[in-house]
Amino acid sequence: MADLKKYREHIRKNRACFFLGPFFMVLEASGEFMLPFINANIINRGAANGDIPYILKNGALMLAVAVMMLITGVCGAYFAVKGSARAAAGVRRDVFAKIQTLSFSDIDRFSTGSLITRVTNDITQIQSFMQTLLRGFFRSPVMLIGALIMSFVLSPDIAWVIFIVVPFLALATFLIIKTASPRYTVMQEHIDALNSGVGETVTGVKVIKSFVREDFEKEKFSKINTALMEKSVRALKMMILMQPVSALAVNVTTLAVVWTAGRQIMIGSMEIGTLTAFITYLSQILTALNFLANIFLQGTRAAASDKRISEVLNTVPDISDEGAKQKDHLIKSGSVEFKNVTFRYFKDAKKPVLDNVSFSINSGETVGIIGSTGSGKTTLVSLIPRLYDTDFGEVLVDGVNVRELSTSQLRENVSVVLQKNTLFSGTVAENLRWGREDASDEELEEACKIAHAHEFITSFPEKYDYEIGQGGANLSGGQRQRLCIARALLKSPKIMIFDDSTSAVDTATDMGIRKALREKLPDITKIIIAQRISSVKDADKIIVLNDGKITGIGTHKELVNSCEEYREIYLSQTDGGEDSDDE
Ligand SMILES: Nc1ncnc2c1ncn2[C@@H]1O[C@H](COP(=O)(O)OP(=O)(O)OP(=O)(O)O)[C@@H](O)[C@H]1O
Ligand SMILES: [Mg+2]
Repeated sequence: MADLKKYREHIRKNRACFFLGPFFMVLEASGEFMLPFINANIINRGAANGDIPYILKNGALMLAVAVMMLITGVCGAYFAVKGSARAAAGVRRDVFAKIQTLSFSDIDRFSTGSLITRVTNDITQIQSFMQTLLRGFFRSPVMLIGALIMSFVLSPDIAWVIFIVVPFLALATFLIIKTASPRYTVMQEHIDALNSGVGETVTGVKVIKSFVREDFEKEKFSKINTALMEKSVRALKMMILMQPVSALAVNVTTLAVVWTAGRQIMIGSMEIGTLTAFITYLSQILTALNFLANIFLQGTRAAASDKRISEVLNTVPDISDEGAKQKDHLIKSGSVEFKNVTFRYFKDAKKPVLDNVSFSINSGETVGIIGSTGSGKTTLVSLIPRLYDTDFGEVLVDGVNVRELSTSQLRENVSVVLQKNTLFSGTVAENLRWGREDASDEELEEACKIAHAHEFITSFPEKYDYEIGQGGANLSGGQRQRLCIARALLKSPKIMIFDDSTSAVDTATDMGIRKALREKLPDITKIIIAQRISSVKDADKIIVLNDGKITGIGTHKELVNSCEEYREIYLSQTDGGEDSDDE
């Protein structure tokens, strides 16, 4: 059964719409069964006797009813649309807020594409179902019962025919729903795949163009698209089946009624107007039944979406403050310690990404991390702000296990300049203030001077008000990196992590940034991941990683003498005479 708790609050907030929508729709329905009755009277009494005043009087009444139906119908639809749209917006807001709390591994598990589908398409399904409900959930039963009563009042002798067709229609609907339901779930999964595919291609469109991979991408997209199309047809053709099935029911019943009533009219026990009205009621009954069946059908589709929304809302982020015993501990120093840390991204993987890693860093030290690509450097540092949790072993910051600290406090004190950093559209100053909202202009400038960004920013005519394009498109790679460093500095953290953050910056600037960091921020622990030995050479300590294991820890001099792997990297980089930035 669906978990409806998530809608309760939003329905309550919009209760006026949720009440007025069905209310007006029921009013409109009451008009539906008045019309045929008046019409029958006009035919039977007015037309048969040539009573013009009677016809005019009742004609005016019909007109009045029609106008009433128009007004109530419009009002009903208006409130249904408004109520469902507002409630859906509320749920969307909740899901979005929940996504913000998910941990990196939760997001890895759902995949970004699927999360996007859930916030957009799935909630839209719920919205249109709510709208259908508001319009028809009360109206259809009222119409059904009203029309049934009216047809029995008109002629009990032929009304029984209706009871033959109802079970038939009910059975058909049941079978259709039973088949369609699982197909909808499959269809939504294909929409996920499509969203993921489009997201990736659009984000990477420049790379795709430079590798002339457009045809390949088109082919890939076409495959996902065709699969979705096939699954949609598979699910929707069941829905479409409803139409002919109920049309068949209407026609068969009408035939049966005309057959029975025809004989009664001939012997004079029934009037023509009564038969006309009867047939109208009959079609109203079947329309109402059809609508109810449609509610069920749409309901199955909405239920599939509802489940996917619940999955997000009910996820307990695997990293949270729950169980943290020292939430109030204030991080005072930037010391870091790893004790026998082992970590895997996929818990069933044989080989760990980090294998029994231990080291300690004192507050204020500068530590370099070096190692071949894929050796686990990024993974290692992402355990410090607890973006992921260790499988075994402990990570300590300021002497306390990160699991015991409040995550927000921890992350405020650990600033990471990610390897794949992101800037947002907005001015330079706005982007920098992501680090700290209330930073003054002087503070922005100071951080930018340390990050060697001030110079290029002031070369823009708008200076700090220069508009950055989406993702930082109108900046060079090195400029982007330096802005990200400045942004991270503004957080005034205790620990700063630079994950290959100066890879696009020339060696001289790189050295300048390190020098500024050392002089201006002596108390901050600095962890620098780098490909270039020159970037870590002057560090207090260098950690060499290989295939998830530490193969050496020490100063540059020590490692050149003792660590085979380090020496190899060093020699490979100095052979070409590159090592020219000795201070
Ligand atoms: N989010 C993730 N999910 C699953 N596996 C991952 C994830 N991130 C990294 N890995 C895997 O973990 C291993 C270590 O990756 P990591 O990013 O830590 O390497 P790295 O040393 O930073 O490499 P580089 O120098 O190229 O940045 C790699 O084998 C990689 O495939
Ligand atoms: Mg990395």
